Amino acid sequence: MLVGRPSETAQRVAERRAAHQIFDKPRIFEDPLARTIIGAQAETELLGSAHKETASIYATSMRFFMALRSRVAEDALAQAVARGIKQYVVLGAGLDTFAYRSPYADLTVYEVDFPATQEWKRARLAEVGLTTPHNIRFVPVDFEHQTLRHGLSQAGFRTDEAAFFSWLGVVPYLTRTAAMATLADIGRLPAGSGVVFDYTVPSHTLPEAERAVVEALARKLARVGEPFQFWIIPEDLEKELRTRGFQRITLLDRPAMNAHYLEGRADGFQFRGGMGQLACAWI
Ligand SMILES: C[S@@+](CC[C@H](N)C(=O)[O-])C[C@H]1O[C@@H](n2cnc3c(N)ncnc32)[C@H](O)[C@@H]1O
Repeated sequence: MLVGRPSETAQRVAERRAAHQIFDKPRIFEDPLARTIIGAQAETELLGSAHKETASIYATSMRFFMALRSRVAEDALAQAVARGIKQYVVLGAGLDTFAYRSPYADLTVYEVDFPATQEWKRARLAEVGLTTPHNIRFVPVDFEHQTLRHGLSQAGFRTDEAAFFSWLGVVPYLTRTAAMATLADIGRLPAGSGVVFDYTVPSHTLPEAERAVVEALARKLARVGEPFQFWIIPEDLEKELRTRGFQRITLLDRPAMNAHYLEGRADGFQFRGGMGQLACAWI
């Protein structure tokens, strides 16, 4: 992240979720605020860009993946809430809209983000007329220089109660040290706590066509000052999670995502690659 500058990828990802609402039928993730949060100008540009969104299978895969990871997180959150969890932490929240459409009156939502991104989001919320609910806490944290535990403790988070975390589109941008420290902080919470996140496997483990797509994306991200810094293979991730106290672990790779979420679509869409993989882990 560039010092004092909000995340540019946060806007881009939010645009992909808005594009999913506009261009994909049936949708795999419903977000009635996705179009609003990107701002009026971006929405207008998006409406005129169907050709760009649907031009390549990789662009479509990326858009669906960004929608899917939110779906997986919010499905897991629903299970957590049904089991009595009252704390939801959105790590690296960007323009995530959950807090502004939450159906759970008793759930406190902690939006944790890089300070400049959070300030920018709050200005955007005001600009597009989204009011801040009483049960949201904004927690500015730079994962590279501050601990999640410290940030949350300043915001009234209860470390003696279980919590659910989403961490979408963030882990690949962190150093391994920052990512593992954050996971360790989650892993110290009471049983019943959980996290959903996506991660990127090293490009040399991918088939050639997919590798080229991922490497082109990595070059683009480096140019906007948000380079990928962390890659891990599923087997190593599982070990790291177990070491940090996670016991029930589900890793979703491309075939699993296709089978669970895209099977039987009338448009026949299946993920082709170039996107990340998903992890859901419970203590
Ligand atoms: C690609 S965006 C994803 C945003 C959001 N999770 C979503 O899915 O729309 C990356 C997010 O990670 C945050 N981020 C990146 N590096 C960070 C750091 N060192 N500390 C805190 N947040 C960070 C950015 O501010 C941004 O909100």
